[in-house]
Amino acid sequence: MLRQYAFTAALLGTSTVTGTYWSGWHGRGNPWQWPGPYPSAGGWWLEQSQDVLSTLYNTYWNGTYWVEDPSILQWAAAVVNTFVIDTQRTFTTAISQYNGNFRGSQVNAQQLQADIRKYYSDIETFYTSGEDVNQIFDAAYDDAQWVVLEWLEAIKFINQYDAYSKSSFGQQDIAEFAHRAHIFYNIVQDQFNTSLCEGGLTWNPALAPYKNAITNELFVSSSIGMYLYFPGDNNSDPYPSTTYSNRTLPPLPYLAPHDPLLLNNAKEEWAWFKSHNFTNAQGLIVDGFHISDGQTTCDQRNEMVYTYNQGVMLSGLRGLWEATGDTSYLQDGYSLINTVINATGWNAHGYGQAGQWAGLGRNGIMEDYCDAPANCSQDNLIFKGAYFEHFDLFCEPLPTQTPLVKGLTHLADRNLANSHSQNCRSYAPWIQHNAYAALNTRNTTSDIIGEWWGASYVNRTQTPAPKYTHPKPLGSVDIANKPWLLSQPPWRCDGQGDCESYVGKVLIGERRRRSRKRQASEQVRTVETQAQGLSVVRAATNSVLNRRAYADVVGGGGR
Ligand SMILES: *[C@@H]1O[C@H](CO)[C@@H](O)[C@H](O)[C@H]1NC(C)=O
Ligand SMILES: *[C@@H]1O[C@H](CO)[C@@H](O)[C@H](O)[C@H]1NC(C)=O
Ligand SMILES: *[C@@H]1O[C@H](CO)[C@@H](O)[C@H](O)[C@H]1NC(C)=O
Ligand SMILES: *[C@@H]1O[C@H](CO)[C@@H](O)[C@H](O)[C@H]1NC(C)=O
Ligand SMILES: *[C@@H]1O[C@H](CO)[C@@H](O)[C@H](O)[C@H]1NC(C)=O
Ligand SMILES: *[C@@H]1O[C@H](CO)[C@@H](O)[C@H](O)[C@H]1NC(C)=O
Ligand SMILES: *[C@@H]1O[C@H](CO)[C@@H](O)[C@H](O)[C@H]1NC(C)=O
Ligand SMILES: *[C@@H]1O[C@H](CO)[C@@H](O)[C@H](O)[C@H]1NC(C)=O
Ligand SMILES: *[C@@H]1O[C@H](CO)[C@@H](O)[C@H](O)[C@H]1NC(C)=O
Repeated sequence: MLRQYAFTAALLGTSTVTGTYWSGWHGRGNPWQWPGPYPSAGGWWLEQSQDVLSTLYNTYWNGTYWVEDPSILQWAAAVVNTFVIDTQRTFTTAISQYNGNFRGSQVNAQQLQADIRKYYSDIETFYTSGEDVNQIFDAAYDDAQWVVLEWLEAIKFINQYDAYSKSSFGQQDIAEFAHRAHIFYNIVQDQFNTSLCEGGLTWNPALAPYKNAITNELFVSSSIGMYLYFPGDNNSDPYPSTTYSNRTLPPLPYLAPHDPLLLNNAKEEWAWFKSHNFTNAQGLIVDGFHISDGQTTCDQRNEMVYTYNQGVMLSGLRGLWEATGDTSYLQDGYSLINTVINATGWNAHGYGQAGQWAGLGRNGIMEDYCDAPANCSQDNLIFKGAYFEHFDLFCEPLPTQTPLVKGLTHLADRNLANSHSQNCRSYAPWIQHNAYAALNTRNTTSDIIGEWWGASYVNRTQTPAPKYTHPKPLGSVDIANKPWLLSQPPWRCDGQGDCESYVGKVLIGERRRRSRKRQASEQVRTVETQAQGLSVVRAATNSVLNRRAYADVVGGGGR
């Protein structure tokens, strides 16, 4: 232990460990696997979630919307709202399973109840007056699906809260939330198209076909989410809002709860995704496939690797198990998660190796390629948050006694529930290590979490760090961070839709952002990076809260 300590001090180039990240570090274990000073303190993690959430609102929320200049992209706003909604589910879990009382912490049930009421009313306001549904309605096939997932999570929250509180809190909103989910799912519902590449969805109907990972992963998750949690909707108004006037639309067809078509979409999509090698040699998911002129197969692969592409199908795989009882979906999930954890350098043999780029980060901390050079586009600033959101949904304890949806979903037997909880518990130190790293990127003045979570570990701020910039994969085009490439082959507009205006808008936004004379260090602290921080801190919180539920399964107690 003494040796380890000296080793750590040497690596930090100082004899006393004084940096924020390292406070509380006692030299036990490998530094790149350190889960922070309070790994099992549920109360501490809950306080952090409350804190990060309240800073998000105090800094960026004007009463109806997230305010930033240039303004947040619509799809990202839907994702931010999803993180907020799911934090209310975490608070509900904390009250219902622990009565909100955690030894040695300020958190209590009354306070969590007050939080839930406050934030729920903000979520309602975002529904009625914040979300710019007209814009997302005419955007790409991935954008629409974030909106579906957003309002399905809201419905899940209401039902979870009401089951615990035996109240009808929020029930009056369910039909409207369901209607919005329905309108947006309807956009993609029949877009799985076998004419090219034997299947899959294309990214954007206005661009030349690009069958990309995110759109198709979302289709797994949104389809199974609709199958399980959509309560049905007989409102036939097809328009996203009363002010929508771009097109005349046919009435929205009725969609019943648990329509088998939805399950089929999810199954077919995952089977297609798996059989069309989206993974690189390391097992990480690449961004997508183009189809060369005159070809019909996915023959041109973009090797770019992004964090969110590694995780958005995880909630879908979990849902597919719920619906079918087929454990191969869970196995696919564990395997994808293990690949990602390893690709952050978590399993490195020694300090030097841990500090090397491992495919998706280093030192056990997840990074996108644009993090260290501090040149992410606005889109990319929430990718890691999306990863941890879906990771967290995947790791919810499997039900053993009460099916999630009566008469529809499966129960886990003891062995399965046990092995799921063991797998998920084994990820907990890694999640906490990432959450603790994110928390330590906070600017002491503004309290805003930065984009590059890896910075605090190496005692850096959020300014560009060329020394830590890693070259992108061979054969990759970083389309998320170089949107100007959308106007060129192979993405070029295909003459359908209003592609030119779409690309034009993306470019104007990006130019405006880049031309702003903001301090480089502050460019990477935004509403997106704060919300992304909330997502990983909340996942860390759940990694502790879930222990009780896991313990109920495997026997034994303890918080
Ligand atoms: C971290 O960097 C700051 C500024 O360069 C320096 O003052 C501080 O001593 C460093 N801390 C550690 C632990 O190396
Ligand atoms: C909040 O900001 C949005 C976007 O700029 C604006 O449309 C809205 O009117 C603002 N709301 C309030 C209450 O100021
Ligand atoms: C399927 O894709 C082909 C080729 O891009 C296109 O011509 C066709 O209209 C699509 N079918 C549907 C139902 O969208
Ligand atoms: C529409 O659905 C609501 C509840 O989802 C139900 O109360 C109502 O009776 C339905 N209306 C029709 C015309 O089916
Ligand atoms: C029309 O479509 C564009 C996107 O193509 C969208 O930005 C705009 O909000 C829509 N306008 C209305 C009034 O629906
Ligand atoms: C998928 O492609 C990668 C990169 O070309 C390759 O290393 C891997 O073996 C392929 N996997 C399968 C199952 O074909
Ligand atoms: C795990 O990551 C290390 C780099 O940290 C790499 O050398 C090794 O091949 C990876 N193992 C697997 C199974 O992906
Ligand atoms: C922290 O934020 C303040 C105000 O936004 C800014 O002036 C300062 O440069 C930031 N400090 C760091 C280290 O990023
Ligand atoms: C970001 O900066 C790095 C290092 O200068 C560079 O390699 C990379 O291409 C840049 N990325 C973008 C999207 O501009």
